[in-house]
Amino acid sequence: MSELIINGKKSLKGEIDIQGAKNSCLPILAACVLVEGVSVIHNCPKLSDVNAAVKILEHLGCKVERKGSSLFVDSRKISCYNIPTELMCQMRSSIVFLGSVLSRMKKAKLCSPGGCEIGLRPIDLHLSALRQLGVSIDESAGDLNCEIKNRLKPGVISLSFPSVGATENIMLASVFSEGKTVILNAAREPEVSDLALFLNKSGCRVKLDAQGTVVIEGVKNTHGVTHSVLSDRIVSLTYMAAVAAAGGDVTLNRACASDFLAAIPVFERAGCRIISKKNSLRIISNGKLSCIKDIRTMPFPGFPTDAQAPIMAMLCKGKGTSVIVENIFENRFKHVSQLNKMGAKIKVEGRVAIIDGVSELYGAPVEAVDLRGGGALVVAALCAEGKTTVSGIHHVDRGYEKIEECLRKLGADIERR
Ligand code: EPZ
Repeated sequence: MSELIINGKKSLKGEIDIQGAKNSCLPILAACVLVEGVSVIHNCPKLSDVNAAVKILEHLGCKVERKGSSLFVDSRKISCYNIPTELMCQMRSSIVFLGSVLSRMKKAKLCSPGGCEIGLRPIDLHLSALRQLGVSIDESAGDLNCEIKNRLKPGVISLSFPSVGATENIMLASVFSEGKTVILNAAREPEVSDLALFLNKSGCRVKLDAQGTVVIEGVKNTHGVTHSVLSDRIVSLTYMAAVAAAGGDVTLNRACASDFLAAIPVFERAGCRIISKKNSLRIISNGKLSCIKDIRTMPFPGFPTDAQAPIMAMLCKGKGTSVIVENIFENRFKHVSQLNKMGAKIKVEGRVAIIDGVSELYGAPVEAVDLRGGGALVVAALCAEGKTTVSGIHHVDRGYEKIEECLRKLGADIERR
């Protein structure tokens, strides 16, 4: 397994282009199953999770070709409705293929995705919504055997939690249903809006409002789409945390601050200067940060749970005591023990992390055990005294494209071994 070697305390300067959003690209690739035609998806990041989604598309009968950062998906000949376990388990968010395979094939057979490092990740909201719309789901033997007898019934689904995946699955399952399907308390993440934009370009009729209501009006057929995936707000926030912690002056091209407004005040109150334009964001920091006492992760438009770990890493050397409450996932503090190995002083009590700022972090051998926790260890290594070896980099490669190249371009002393 590869690892990253980082010699810290180099300030970061210059500019990088932010990659396309993993969490938009994945549901859009799943949506290609129900789009009958050739779709061209630009700004697709080169990530192992994207590769896993492409393998599922090819298994279902799509032809997929990559040209640089564009994927060409020909979904005219879909012949299969089951996704084998080995493909499902490579990436638990493959559950979003359920809705699109059901729409196209009226049947779907896949295994229940397991939990992952950050939590149990149940799919009860997905399944109860689909059952309410008339999908018959047999969960015996750990598989999901799903079938739509004729056409999906329209209905009003009120989600008890604004689940991103459940919102996306209901949207994908309802595009051909007769009449209008309404989702109340739907997720409002920018990636959900990007999926709706892709679907509407293909001839679907999906409307979202700012209050979290989604209305899907069934259509009869769809056609190929050309679409550019929006930029990855979590990658932007991770690199911002790196600059804030290590100090420097960096411009993130394609960063779209309106996708992460809730996190901007955290950087400004910590002492960074943020200059955001329509499609770029500049962050300036002297590396000496103040503590932030009231970070609580929430569904969009609140503070994003995926940025919790990198921003915790940035606050390890903050002056004073910072407090972070993780409200979305029940086990998303696994990076704490590794940060403490580097000299951080973090205590966890249930969903609350208390970060007592220290004057220095020290390089150490640490291990990434999940995607964003791995991003956090890279942020900490960049501002630590001495050499850090981050192992378990395959977790980081799931969501950060060419992380060492981007950081090296900004002046970091980092290499992959
Ligand atoms: C998406 O996961 C993202 N993944 C996650 O990003 C992100 O952290 C999450 O949304 C929240 O923003 C993708 O888009 C591929 P949820 P998802 O359904 O859809 C509970 C990353 O690092 N829940 O909104 O799985 C669930 O347990 C990843 O890029 C149920 O209880 O998130 C969790 O506590 C990590 N029952 C909460 O809701 C359900 O049926 C949020 O889950 C579904 C969810």
